[in-house]
Amino acid sequence: MSKEAKTTYGIHSLLSKRWSPRAFKKQSISREILLSLFEAARWSPSAFNDQPWYFIIGNNNDKTFLGIFETLVEFNQLWTKNAPVLVLSCGRKKTQKGDPNNSFKYDVGQAVAHLSIQATSHNLYVHQMTGFSPEKATEVFEIPDEFEALSVIVIGYLGDTAILDPRMQKPELAERERKSFDEFIFQDKFGKKSNLLTD
Ligand SMILES: Cc1cc2nc3c(=O)[nH]c(=O)nc-3n(C[C@H](O)[C@H](O)[C@H](O)COP(=O)(O)O)c2cc1C
Repeated sequence: MSKEAKTTYGIHSLLSKRWSPRAFKKQSISREILLSLFEAARWSPSAFNDQPWYFIIGNNNDKTFLGIFETLVEFNQLWTKNAPVLVLSCGRKKTQKGDPNNSFKYDVGQAVAHLSIQATSHNLYVHQMTGFSPEKATEVFEIPDEFEALSVIVIGYLGDTAILDPRMQKPELAERERKSFDEFIFQDKFGKKSNLLTD
C-alpha cells in the first residue's frame, strides 16, 4: 500500500513516500540498518552544535521495548505491539555550558525528521507519538532532571492493514490531508499571503 503525498510541486521521493502507518510487520530490522538511522540523526544540525538528542532503543520485545510500551496511552498500545522497534526520544534542557537551551525540542525533532527520511530509504516506516507518559518514562528509565522525555518513535516495515483493530483500519486507508500554502507561507506580515502564490 502506498499513501504517497500528492504534491503540487516536485519533492524528493524519500519525502513523498514517508507517512505514519499503524500496521507494522513483526519483522526485525538489521543492526546495520538500525544504526544507520541513528547515524542520520547524529548528523542533523543543532543550535550551538549542542546535539541535545538522546535515544533509548527497544528492540524485538526486549526489556527496553516493554518498558517503553508500558508508558504509551492505551490507544497507542493497541497498534504498536506489532512493531519490532520502539524508541524513546529525550532532550537535554541545558547546553553543555550549563545555560538553558531554548532550542532543545526543535533540535531533537529535527534529528527525528532526519532519522525518518533515512528510514524511508530502507523501506522502513516511522510513526512518532506524544501519546505516552513522560513521567512514567522518566521513572522507568531513570532519566536525570536535566533531560526530558519527548516522544516515542515506532520503526518497522509496513504491515497488512487487516491486523489492525477495526477502529484503526479506516484512517490507515484514508487519504492524507494537508493545509494549503496560503495558510502558512506569508509575506510582509504574519497572515498575509506570499507573492509566490499570486505572481
Ligand atoms: C510530535 C508528534 C506526535 C504524534 N503523536 C501521535 C500519537 O500519539 N498517536 C498516533 O497514532 N499518531 C501520532 N502522531 C502521528 C500524526 O498523527 C501524523 O504524523 C499526522 O497525522 C500526519 O500523517 P503522516 O505522518 O502520515 O503524514 C504524532 C506525530 C508527531 C509528529
